[in-house]
Amino acid sequence: MDDSGTLELTGPTLRVRIPRAGDAGALFALARDPEVTRWFSWGPYERIDEARAYLGRLPGQRARGEQLDLVVEDPRTGPIGISGLSEFAPRDRRATIGTWLGRERWGTGANREVKALMCHLAFDVLGLQRLTGYANVEHARSQRALEGIGFRREGTLRAYHRHAGRALDVAVFSLLCADWDAGPLRAVSVQVAGAPPPAFVTLTDDLSD
Ligand SMILES: CC(C)(COP(=O)(O)OP(=O)(O)OC[C@H]1O[C@@H](n2cnc3c(N)ncnc32)[C@H](O)[C@@H]1OP(=O)(O)O)[C@@H](O)C(=O)NCCC(=O)NCCS
Repeated sequence: MDDSGTLELTGPTLRVRIPRAGDAGALFALARDPEVTRWFSWGPYERIDEARAYLGRLPGQRARGEQLDLVVEDPRTGPIGISGLSEFAPRDRRATIGTWLGRERWGTGANREVKALMCHLAFDVLGLQRLTGYANVEHARSQRALEGIGFRREGTLRAYHRHAGRALDVAVFSLLCADWDAGPLRAVSVQVAGAPPPAFVTLTDDLSD
């Protein structure tokens, strides 16, 4: 059963919201581009059923508090990608952020606005203290994008990610709530509608040390 249709955060030009089954066609069109999924363990999509299967896994992941993937949408044109929070550690109030956007939106400022929306969700709505970002050590664009919006490089995690049968090194970055509060993403105007899925609301209750 889907828990959670309502959460939506809206910025100056984009919004992020709970994905719906009807997003499969748009996500398929975007992620059939091999450049978009080049650094991922999945893709490029070859059949729309792969996008449907992805969307079909999300309600269970939300219900279990494992992963909160949101569709990034341009209200004028429809979905342009996905941004999500994963690896939730409620006791330590941290999670990991990841984003992919259709190639047309690279270099347009969309990533910055998406990260502003997702940071607002993570820090203001969910009460997290830290977001982690990962990038393959050879994925210069992603690293530069993270640093450009205030993430701090922390080092290299060796043999951290398996891709095409190989263990790859990953650069790790972080943004703390205090960094966000003092940084440029905080200034982006964000409207929040609806509520996070119940499994994530309890995050803020679990503050035991
Ligand atoms: C990662 C992603 C969300 C970043 O969004 P973006 O719009 O491309 O990022 P931006 O354009 O804001 O920032 C990229 C920066 O890298 C720079 N850059 C681009 N190509 C580069 C390259 N080959 N080497 C070094 N820097 C590069 C850009 O100039 C820019 O820096 P600047 O703002 O200082 O000029 C987007 O590229 C994407 O969806 N990629 C596919 C999915 C993906 O790989 N996700 C990340 C997985 S770790």
